[in-house]
Amino acid sequence: MFNQFFFVLVLLSTMASCTGAKSAQVVSANHVLHPVDSLLNLMTIEEKIGQMSIFTSGGDITGATLRDTYKEDIRKGRIGAVFSAHSVRFTRQLQKLAVENSRLGIPLLFGYDVIHGYKTIMPIPLGGAASWDLAAIQQASRIAAIESSAAGLHWTFAPMVDVARDPRWGRISEGAGEDALYGSLVAEARVKGFQGSDLTQNNTILACAKHFAAYGAAQAGRDYHTVDVSERTLREVYLPPFKSATEAGVRTFMTAFNELDGVPATGNSFLLKDILRKEWGFDGMVVTDYTSINEMVHHGVAATDKEAGELALNAGVDMDMQGAVFYDHLQKSLTEGKVRIEQINQAVRHILLMKYELGLFEDPFKYCNKKREEQYVFSKEHRQFARTLAQKSIVLLKNEKGILPLPQNAKKKVAVIGPFFDSEKDMLGSWSAAGRAEDCVTLKQGLLQAGSALEFSFAKGCAPYGGDQSNFAQAQKIASQADYIVLYLGETRGMSGEAASRSDIGLPGHQSALAKMCKKLGKPLIVILANGRPLTIPWLAEHVDAIVETWFLGTEAGNAIADVLLGKYNPSGRLPVTFPRRVGQIPIFYNMKNTGRPYEANNKFTSKYLDTPNTPLYPFGFGLSYTPFKYGSIKLKQPFLSKDMPLDVSITIENTGSQEGTETVQLYIRDLVASVTRPVKELKAFQQVVLKKGERKEVHFTLSEKDLMFFDKKMNWVVEPGEFELFIGANAQTSRKVLFTFR
Ligand code: BGC
Repeated sequence: MFNQFFFVLVLLSTMASCTGAKSAQVVSANHVLHPVDSLLNLMTIEEKIGQMSIFTSGGDITGATLRDTYKEDIRKGRIGAVFSAHSVRFTRQLQKLAVENSRLGIPLLFGYDVIHGYKTIMPIPLGGAASWDLAAIQQASRIAAIESSAAGLHWTFAPMVDVARDPRWGRISEGAGEDALYGSLVAEARVKGFQGSDLTQNNTILACAKHFAAYGAAQAGRDYHTVDVSERTLREVYLPPFKSATEAGVRTFMTAFNELDGVPATGNSFLLKDILRKEWGFDGMVVTDYTSINEMVHHGVAATDKEAGELALNAGVDMDMQGAVFYDHLQKSLTEGKVRIEQINQAVRHILLMKYELGLFEDPFKYCNKKREEQYVFSKEHRQFARTLAQKSIVLLKNEKGILPLPQNAKKKVAVIGPFFDSEKDMLGSWSAAGRAEDCVTLKQGLLQAGSALEFSFAKGCAPYGGDQSNFAQAQKIASQADYIVLYLGETRGMSGEAASRSDIGLPGHQSALAKMCKKLGKPLIVILANGRPLTIPWLAEHVDAIVETWFLGTEAGNAIADVLLGKYNPSGRLPVTFPRRVGQIPIFYNMKNTGRPYEANNKFTSKYLDTPNTPLYPFGFGLSYTPFKYGSIKLKQPFLSKDMPLDVSITIENTGSQEGTETVQLYIRDLVASVTRPVKELKAFQQVVLKKGERKEVHFTLSEKDLMFFDKKMNWVVEPGEFELFIGANAQTSRKVLFTFR
């Protein structure tokens, strides 16, 4: 039985929901109470602080469990949200405790790190981003939302929209790579996928843009490390995907662990108030990252947890994740006058609004339906889609003499060697939510199920890291009897993701030695890479015949890789991030500045290294296909663009090979002279075209004034007249260009 207050609430919320959440807010502006405010008026201070506290329910990656007192806390209204609790059975049990036993019956909010799938695991976000297929990226998040919502969840801590330009940082795997524009488009797609068009539906969930802000700029790529970026870099590089998420309607934000200009993000009112609320008009809810309030003591801006809590609330935080700072100290801070009740009310209002928008006051169990859980979680359709996205995420980095695809109808022998060929768990990548290793298709399974005439043999050769070379002999034996050697090398799933920074991003352990041993056999040598970040692999790039970048592809990994190896899918992925030659080049990204002494081969006193070229091993946007594409010349409708006259740009692309393929046509600009320095290239648009063999298509782009805008010296968003270069090509290194002016 629900308590009586709950019934009052249901009445109130039903009345308001008839007018829709948006109009209910308008009504509130006219001084008619929003149902959430009516509820606020009934709440004690303890119940308010309860809403502002979220705790984890299990040891899911980040550690600790619900406080021992959780049942009592829920009954007393001292916990408003729980994370990592999932499945209909478990969430129903907790929700019942809240709505039937607490004084006001306010439903709990259930959050979880559904980062690239709930149980049907898709490619890691960096891998998905390599598809450059925004519709597919959106669909992956849609499926994740359908499964999570069917398993009792209301909220995902995704998308991570941190731009990352340092591959040593393990969390580069969780984002969309190095580019602000591409990252913004992916952010928009993912928010729309999770939230759908109507949050009151029982198959949509709240998304969370994280980690606000500039977490990806951790110094030296070391996780949780200091961030020190200029306001220009912040606004040009790190903020755009967050802004884009806001414009796409994201309802929650998560603060970052790092500091920014000396102020930890969790206590940073410049970020949380000036930018997020005032500049961008965000009216959703802000949660901290895991214990990031408490961590302000270590940052050295607060002497105690209590003081840190005051900083956080005053800066604009609404909900404290796991730190129990609000839970333990906020009441005292209020009594002492260190925080104001209006601030607490504001935070609670934001939180209740989320519950209201989800429709939890109408039906707190609407996400708890066993039938839906059975029907949708890990459904056949979802797995089929996971295979499609996994295929699209694969990037062909090298293919000498068209060695790939393997001749699937020939009776040839293929030795598959390397630590990952049968490793189910490594297919998942980091943050695999409810994904289970035993549900993953390994490469071995994928190849054997594919039904080719090829004869496969398998050997590990060595451990992924550490270990020794004692198993080389067995690998050598099968390799020397084979017609082709396929090496499956790279990182384990735990070597990227949170708290997984690396100072050496080459192949770990004895893997390079294994590759060199195989090379000596003189057979066609194909390398498949498993990794959550760019790797430094100059030896492979020079010596092996083919390299297939597969990231961590999720549940259907082995099938998708087999599809590419056997030519059932023509690879179409493109790198969303630069691959350096050596760690010493980091940070290396395509849209760098020119400097006052740009590189000249014969001039020592220009910007370069003594021991390595400036260029990357593989540039941003790069990827091959089994078919070649020919680019025509760039045509401009007129050689200028103005405020009222956009510029139509076109180019002809031709598939000159013998099979259908997908090309990602990329358009970059360079502002040649401006009042502040501009990057040597900026991605402004791209289009994917599917071309049959021999087919030609004219691809059109429209550039407008807004594509030329930037922040001037006073941080005004402006466009300046002058000359621009416009490049179109297959990756960021393209030199095919024309000039136009803005007037
Ligand atoms: C991570 C967040 C994550 C949270 C909850 C933190 O350690 O930084 O990205 O959402 O844990 O699991």
